[in-house]
Amino acid sequence: MAKDGNEKGSGKMGINTRLAHSGNNPHDYFGFVNPPVVHASTVLYRNAAAMAGRSQKYTYGTRGTPTTDALAQAIDALEGSAGTIVVPSGLAAVTIPLLAFVSAGDHLLIVDSVYHPTRNFADTILKRLGVEVEYYDPHIGAGIAALIKPNTKVVFTESPASNTFEVQDIPAIAKVAHTAGAIVMMDNTWATPLYFRPLDHGVDISIHAATKYPAGHSDVLLGTVSANESHWEQLYESFCTLGCCAGPDDVYQVLRGLRTMGVRLEHHQRSALAIASWLEGQKGVARVLHPALPSHPDHDLWKRDFCGSSGIFSIVLAGGGQKEQHAFLDALRIFGLGYSWGGYESLAVPVWLGDRVVAKGPYEGPLIRLQIGLEDVDDLKADILGGLAAATA
Ligand SMILES: Cc1ncc(COP(=O)(O)O)c(C=O)c1O
Repeated sequence: MAKDGNEKGSGKMGINTRLAHSGNNPHDYFGFVNPPVVHASTVLYRNAAAMAGRSQKYTYGTRGTPTTDALAQAIDALEGSAGTIVVPSGLAAVTIPLLAFVSAGDHLLIVDSVYHPTRNFADTILKRLGVEVEYYDPHIGAGIAALIKPNTKVVFTESPASNTFEVQDIPAIAKVAHTAGAIVMMDNTWATPLYFRPLDHGVDISIHAATKYPAGHSDVLLGTVSANESHWEQLYESFCTLGCCAGPDDVYQVLRGLRTMGVRLEHHQRSALAIASWLEGQKGVARVLHPALPSHPDHDLWKRDFCGSSGIFSIVLAGGGQKEQHAFLDALRIFGLGYSWGGYESLAVPVWLGDRVVAKGPYEGPLIRLQIGLEDVDDLKADILGGLAAATA
């Protein structure tokens, strides 16, 4: 679906130039800058022979349209992938590639600090289908060799970790996994392909909740899954078999969001770093979990592999429990209390680590995850100070 992309977007040009021009060629549609939003189930064939041979570019709405192709080709240009599927949510971008590649009797290794619904899918549906699921330490690196079995099919990574922001040694893990014949998947939502390109580091399948920074406005759910050459065909065929295509209006909104993602991300990065480093000196904060801070235990690894940081990180309060965590959250006036991230507005959520088997801490107090939006930093700092005062009162 995204194989014959617009070359204009895939060269050596700067990232914002590529974001502005990747995906569609305006001259394919009378020069209109943006592609059409194609609402489609039926595609007509010129004759019975074309129908029998399926010998035309588009055959049915579930298998791709000019709108989904525009987004998929833009993502391919960013990821360096052979093909991209566009699915209805970030969670679907996790479940569909897993369903595409694991079978009954296979062993699946998942990082313990994974996004909770990924774990839930593995622990329920995949286990029911006969997949053996095992969780590993985010710091395992090449040590994953000790966990690999003859039936290990997929090593699932997510870096930095959901909520606790450990950085994984992706190249080391990929090397070991490939030696054993396993596939490496990565949920790369935090960094976006602007700040980390998984396929360049040995990952076979890169996953994004495009709901976050690509969409950018907290009003769309979408996911993308990008594969290297050797895994693209199986991914695409499974996608078609499952029928999990995304709606055209949502796909269009994400393509629209992509055009400004570079400038938005720069702002998120700058504000989040300013607030994270300021928080390190604040009373009531034991630790700030942000891999771009030199104090972060995985900072060197982050610096080696990533070329930027986005807008979410966590803080550890200096002691206390749920009472202090709730007092902090309830005192906030600008930060909303709500799930997801990557939108223009700041959000805060309590972190729960009760599902973890390895990466559980210890932490000095309760954790709170902050998504730093596009508001003014001084206003956000004042809001956080209110939260800290309430937590320490
Ligand atoms: C790391 C990560 N992956 C995937 C998802 C799922 O995205 P969606 O909300 O679009 O299902 C999320 C959502 O919070 C996430 O944080």
